[in-house]
Order: sequence, then C-alpha cells, then structure tokens
Amino acid sequence: MSITVLLGAQWGDEGKGRITDALAAEADLVARFNGGDNAGHSITIGARVVKLHLIPSGILREGCLNVIGNGVVVNPINALREIAEVRAAGVDVSPRRLRISQAAHVILPGHLALDAAREAQGGIGTTKRGIGPAYSDKVARLGVRAGAMADPRAFGEAVRQHTVRVNRLLEAEFDQPPLDADAAAESYAEAAEQLRPFLDNTFQVIHNALRDGLRVLAEGAQATLLDIDHGTYPFVTSSNATVGGVLTGLGVPPQAIRRVIGVCKAFTTRVGGGPFVTELEGELALRLRGTGANPWDEYGTTTGRPRRVGWLDLVALRYAVQLNGITELALTKLDVLCGLNPVRLCTAYRHNGETLTWFPQDSDVLAECAPIYEDLPGWSEDVRNVRRFKDLPVHAQRFVERVESLAGAPVRLISVGPEREQLIWR
Ligand code: IMP
Repeated sequence: MSITVLLGAQWGDEGKGRITDALAAEADLVARFNGGDNAGHSITIGARVVKLHLIPSGILREGCLNVIGNGVVVNPINALREIAEVRAAGVDVSPRRLRISQAAHVILPGHLALDAAREAQGGIGTTKRGIGPAYSDKVARLGVRAGAMADPRAFGEAVRQHTVRVNRLLEAEFDQPPLDADAAAESYAEAAEQLRPFLDNTFQVIHNALRDGLRVLAEGAQATLLDIDHGTYPFVTSSNATVGGVLTGLGVPPQAIRRVIGVCKAFTTRVGGGPFVTELEGELALRLRGTGANPWDEYGTTTGRPRRVGWLDLVALRYAVQLNGITELALTKLDVLCGLNPVRLCTAYRHNGETLTWFPQDSDVLAECAPIYEDLPGWSEDVRNVRRFKDLPVHAQRFVERVESLAGAPVRLISVGPEREQLIWR
C-alpha cells in the first residue's frame, strides 16, 4: 500500500498543481480529498495554460486514473463546464479516467446564494463557490450526496426542496429574493444525467488500487493554514486541507501514507482576509506579486483577485511540517527572489514583548504578532535554466538549506519557472 500525499504548506496557491502534475507522471491514480472548485490550479504545458478547479491534475497524464473523493464537494454545473474545457484542450475526460465518489456532497444553488449573501454582509473573502454552506449542510445532515445523481429525477426533486428551504433563509436573514426552485431542479437534473456515468464507489476504486500495488497520489486543495481545524480560523476554508483530510476524505488508513510532500513558495501569499505576519506593501509587494501579465503572477486562479504577498514565514512552515508529518518539501518560485537583497526569512514572532516560536492557535494573537527576520544575502543570477542544485548560485543554495533546517524537513524539489521542465530534483 503506498500513498503519497501532496498538500499546501501555506495559505494556498503554492503551485501544488504543477508539482502534482510532475508527480502524476509517477502515479497510477490521483485523488482529490477535500474542497471543491474553490481550488485553482494553472498548469502550463508549452504555450497552453490549463486551469483545473475540481478535476485532479492527473487528468493531464495519460494512463492516470483520477478520483474525486468523498471529502470533496462537487458543483455539477461547474464540473461539467470544466470537463468540457479540459476536453477542448484535447484531453480524454471520460468515466474511464475520472470517477466521482457517490459519497461526495453536492454544492447546490442555495449554497452559492448563501455564500454570496454572507460575503455581501462582510464575510471573510471566500471564493463564493458555495463551499462553506455545502459543508455546513453536510455536517448538519441536510446535504445531498453525489450518489443521488444516479436518479436524476429524484435528485432534481431534492434540489428543488433544498432550494425552497434556502429561500426561506435568504428572505428572512438576508432580505434576498428567492431562487427559482423549479429552474434549479431542472438544470441540476440535466447535469446529473450527464455526470451519472462518472459516479462510483471510490472507496473500492482506491482500495483496489492499493491492493494491486498501484501508486496513489492524494492531491490536496487549499492548504494547511486554511484548514478548518488547524488554520487561521475563521479565515479558513470549510474542509480539512491537512493530512487528516486524506484519511477521512478518501477512506484510507494512516499506514498507507508513505510520503507527505508539503508545497511552499519561496515567499508567502494569501488571498482573502485574515492575519498575515510577514505581509509586505509597496514596491517590494509589487515586485513579488508580478504585474498580472503572466498567468503565473500572483492573482487568484479562481477569482482573479491580487494575492497578498510577504516573506517566507518559517514559524508557519515549521507548524505545517509538524502538523502534517511532512517528509519533504517542494519549494516553488525560487526564481522570483532573484535580484532581491537581502532575502528575509521570518524565524519567530514578537508578541507583547515576548518571542514566539510556535504558531499561535488564536487568530487574534496572530494578528498582533510582528515578524522577527533573519536576513540572507540575495543573488542576481537568473536561475530559470538551472536543473541541478549545485548549479544554483551559492546564495540561493544557502537560502534553500536554511529553509530546510528551520522548517525541519528536506527540500527535495525546487521550481525555478512555470514550465513543466523548470524543476530541480535533489
Ligand atoms: P472558501 O473556500 O471559498 O470558503 O474561502 C475561504 C477562504 O479560503 C478564503 O480566504 C479564500 O480566499 C481561501 N481559499 C479557498 N480556496 C483557495 C485556494 O485554492 N487558494 C487560495 N485560497 C483559497
């Protein structure tokens, strides 16, 4: 039994998609275990940028089976749109290659409306994909599971009843006009008709793969600091994006997990609200964010929002390593630091005159923390064509080595550009 887990070690957008894409070459099955189409992976293949929100990145590797696990929430309309888009890029997205768990929960029209209504009243800056309300209904045992799509007519009726219920909430709590419950039922029943062939008992699919000695890659969405339990609550997503989410979101035992790869950028970014100790403003922020001219600049894949940027936070990264049992780190976007001098690493926080080396569990405390930095000399050589660690400028090598010693996990993979081959394996 062998599962490799790949998850975000920061606040998301670490470049998980392209690392999964690289690892998918060595996987037989790639499974998503949490989140929904709030995730966004841009993968650059030659001149083409493929955007994946829900479909596992393994879809771009022939011969790879892809599973949307029970821990995921699925918007059927958006799922079909994404399937069509990926197909348009010439990729086979048939039920032979993609399975959706019957136990995954469905994002319903009422969930989207509630997410938008809450955000309009001053929320946390969600992606407005209905994620929070869908998981709320799951936990409240009011949700509709993907397996219900096997009977599109009954599914449509469940969607209608759900919409009628949410309409009462929308009116009473948010003074919003009601959704058209019949139209919602009809469009969802039509989507169910098309998605039905993709439904499967994914527990069985994954356990068969493990029994047969196939290599399974569990692909995380969002990231450690957005985890509902361990992230910067309430500025988090509504699922477990940490390693525990793999066990519950796929139905696999802990012993099956062999490797946990944490993906982190050489700096930090965050979208949406919430504390961010190493956040930068001004020129330096613009420099790290990029202009938005390139698809890999720091603008949200799902929402297009400019990301907040800052120096690499080792207090947070160490926390992610401990929490997830990260066995190796993939450090992305090392090329972006080129030309900055010094480059800074946040090694501890200052709070009320005290030095904190542990990541606080209370977001209010985190918001009051100031960074304590260690400055390292920068490098000005272009690293984008480097493929071996020893060919990196010596100060870039020192930076990587300092990150691994402070984080407590080795850096095995470094990305130096957006292209598939711009990777350094160690
Ligand atoms: P939600 O997941 O749409 O409910 O949003 C909750 C928080 O998670 C917001 O701060 C979002 O910006 C953030 N978030 C959700 N998905 C992603 C992602 O894929 N990358 C980065 N941030 C995300």
